[in-house]
Amino acid sequence: MTLKELLYSSPVIPVLVIDSLDDAVPLARALVRGGLPNLEITLRTDVALEAVRKIAREVPDAQVGVGTVRTVDDIRRAWDVGATFAVSPGLTPALLDLEHSIPLLPGAMTPTEIMTAFDAGFRCLKLFPASFAGGADFLRAIAGPLPDVTFCPTGGIREDDLLRYLSMPNVACVGGTWITPKDAVARKDWDMIETLARRAVAIANEQPTAAGRSGSAAPEAGEEDPGAALESLRS
Ligand code: 3PG
Repeated sequence: MTLKELLYSSPVIPVLVIDSLDDAVPLARALVRGGLPNLEITLRTDVALEAVRKIAREVPDAQVGVGTVRTVDDIRRAWDVGATFAVSPGLTPALLDLEHSIPLLPGAMTPTEIMTAFDAGFRCLKLFPASFAGGADFLRAIAGPLPDVTFCPTGGIREDDLLRYLSMPNVACVGGTWITPKDAVARKDWDMIETLARRAVAIANEQPTAAGRSGSAAPEAGEEDPGAALESLRS
């Protein structure tokens, strides 16, 4: 699966900050039951990498990504524990040059950053922080001059914003923490998290182009070539 296909396969990537390793698997299972199997575990807690390892082993229906990746070493660690993809809040020369790794979704928030990533071969980017970058209006404004980039906007997005973001032609999915409220995790209220995930999926299905979303992820020229590892890594 290319990164683009992964992004189009589910409307929301829950962004998870896991403090307790015991929460990792039940949290991931609740999200998968709710219809959101693509998960981003942020490298912001001591147990983050072990949480990725556990989810990758014990929740086979989940696609586990590692978030808050800032260095090449972070990418290596993500690879070592079995992550499927990596997400970065920005882009650095070292990350842009990385040639052999798991698929990376780098962050960008200006046309120049988007063009820099595009020049390095990336076709899928995280608009971050989306709400400060101009949100859906910004994405609409750059769809004309920068049409070949697919976004996963993240940062400041809530349930009420979801439909608007997903209706943008250059948005595959969004990322966010609203699906996993801290108090619900603290109470181990997995049912509530499953309900929030289901609600997000229902909202995504309201948008007129929902049926075509997975179709938009059809492989483009070169993507189906198994030898084009770098291409699929970045697109
Ligand atoms: C993050 O860095 O935590 C993500 O961008 C999610 O942000 P959010 O809490 O605004 O959804």
